Amino acid sequence: MTRPSIDRRRKQPATAKLRIKNFRRNSSDFIAIEHLANRCQFLGYAEVFNTAPAQEGESLVYAALRVLYEPNAARKGLLTHRTADLWRAGKLSLHADHGLDMPPVPERPARDDTVQLVEPKKMKRLGKGGTLASRQALVHSLVHIESWAVDLSWDIIARFGSDTTYRLPREFFDDFVTVAEDECRHHELLRNRLENMGSHYGAFAAHEALWDSAMATAHSLPARLAVEHAVHEARGLDVMPSTIRKFRLNGDEQTARLLENVVYKEEITHCAAGVRWLSYLHGLAHTTSVPASEGPSSASNEAGDVQGHAGSTPEWMAEARRHSSVETWFHELVQTHFRGSLKPPFNVEAREQAGFGPEWYMPLATQPKTAAIAETLQEDSVCMQLQGSELASAEAMATV
Ligand SMILES: [Fe+2]
Ligand SMILES: [Fe+2]
Repeated sequence: MTRPSIDRRRKQPATAKLRIKNFRRNSSDFIAIEHLANRCQFLGYAEVFNTAPAQEGESLVYAALRVLYEPNAARKGLLTHRTADLWRAGKLSLHADHGLDMPPVPERPARDDTVQLVEPKKMKRLGKGGTLASRQALVHSLVHIESWAVDLSWDIIARFGSDTTYRLPREFFDDFVTVAEDECRHHELLRNRLENMGSHYGAFAAHEALWDSAMATAHSLPARLAVEHAVHEARGLDVMPSTIRKFRLNGDEQTARLLENVVYKEEITHCAAGVRWLSYLHGLAHTTSVPASEGPSSASNEAGDVQGHAGSTPEWMAEARRHSSVETWFHELVQTHFRGSLKPPFNVEAREQAGFGPEWYMPLATQPKTAAIAETLQEDSVCMQLQGSELASAEAMATV
């Protein structure tokens, strides 16, 4: 296939560099201008992807970028399924040479205008599920969150998959391709459920605060794994049972079963992936006797030669080596990259199934007095998802 080339000089379209620092973050003006800048950037690469599905022979990272540059949520699903099929059939490589055609990982994934975006604090309350309108709003928020979760899954592959200092084996990519497919399925099932309830995706406003959290860990795979998968997704495990109860008690057994039988079970595996690969990186840091940039490629490393940063130990590896256990490294990562503390009560059983015990999260838990408040808030967690507070943001991301 002949792929249209792209001039490197266009990799940062001038419009994408709009200076927006004079606008308060999350203000309406900020959102509008940032949205415009992003759209200009995506238009600059439209000729590269043309929203086409992955092609045999290209790299998984390139295929991941296709999803991130695709603006339509439903089409993101189609591209995801196609990419997963090709990957499992062995028809995508880890690192094909795309030369000048390789665009950068977008700071924000492409989004069309299906959903009206507003400031988090201007979101209307979702209610507690006592009325059909409230349940529609709750499901709509979940549909929106799952859509972002799809992008988050591809972002981890596109952003970190080419960094050879992590020496990521094929199993890492297998895991996150599966996570991407799961999130797609969640989005599609919940979207169908929303339509069966007489509504549709785009019927309610939403915000994009979820992605801010992702961008706070855009520079570091360990930070991403710790915060997104072992904090936010673990929080989702904590609140999911009460969310399911909320639908069930209000007579919406279909939504309750969907969340219980599909979403909840699969979210445990997503959390497990975060724990597994953070542990892998910690083990790698402690078993590699020379800087990653100087070491030989491991047998399982399909990423090719390890070429680090001028022969020095990568920063993440130096940090990991300061911790004799992955748990204390996790504590430092969370304290550095996540604002706030972890709020009990914890879903100990689900967290155990995901592979991490209290020694991971209890040292980061809120003090008893604050915890009591958090417990009260937890009851209202889903309703608060789009209310704009920091807790709401965390809760919203947690349910992906
Ligand atoms: Fe999900
Ligand atoms: Fe998830």
